[in-house]
Amino acid sequence: MKGVVLAGGTGSRLFPLTKITNKHLLPIYDKPMVYYPIQTLVDAGIRDIMIVTGGRNAGDFLRLLGNGKEFGLAHLNYAYQEGEGGIAEALALAEHFADGDQICIILGDNLIEGSIRHAVEDFAAQQRGARILLKQVPDAERFGVAELRGDRIVGIEEKPQKPKSNCAVTGIYLYDATVFEKIRTLVPSARGELEITDVNNAYIREGTMTFSYLEGWWTDAGTFESLLRASNLVARSRTTEDRPSPTSEAGIP
Ligand code: G1P
Repeated sequence: MKGVVLAGGTGSRLFPLTKITNKHLLPIYDKPMVYYPIQTLVDAGIRDIMIVTGGRNAGDFLRLLGNGKEFGLAHLNYAYQEGEGGIAEALALAEHFADGDQICIILGDNLIEGSIRHAVEDFAAQQRGARILLKQVPDAERFGVAELRGDRIVGIEEKPQKPKSNCAVTGIYLYDATVFEKIRTLVPSARGELEITDVNNAYIREGTMTFSYLEGWWTDAGTFESLLRASNLVARSRTTEDRPSPTSEAGIP
């Protein structure tokens, strides 16, 4: 399975932090943000990885990451996104790289405490369709939200005012090669982007979408609040690494 880290976009919700650099190069505790999703893929056993980015700072990713030696990788692949057409448009740039294989996509601002190895292995066995990772959150309206019926996922709404569940769709997506055909059928949403939620709903309609629940904490880092929360969660994981105990998010801003 191949891995793709999506690290483009304008990071407008973090302006002026993102006025002169890319959101994914900002610090989360002691590392640039993009290190975390790369490590998540590597920890899941994925070694063939592409970074999709764009804008004026694209070259900085090459300077920062090089061939991925810090992650124990032999090489990294890069693609350049012209414009800001959304997550699904960025993903379309990975079609040549995917070359018919299954892919694991992770948004460059998604950080997790645990591992996605089991989900990746389950998806590899699934062979076709897609798999997403859900996480119960108190502020589901900020995310794509899953509508569940029994053990089935029947739909996803992007940032609904009245969420139908508290299950956020995390920014970790496992797709078969038909994802690229599905992206070609999309039309831009009200915010002018090709939405990953529309891709996921295409798999749901087809009846080939499965899901798992993500263990441990999960956060995005695309707003001031979540950027701070991400740093605090990572900092606390570091200090509790030697004392394995169940983590709770209580008290973390
Ligand atoms: C994106 C997706 C959303 C998902 C979220 C996870 O939102 O559109 O469905 O729940 O990532 O981080 P964005 O952060 O681009 O607004």
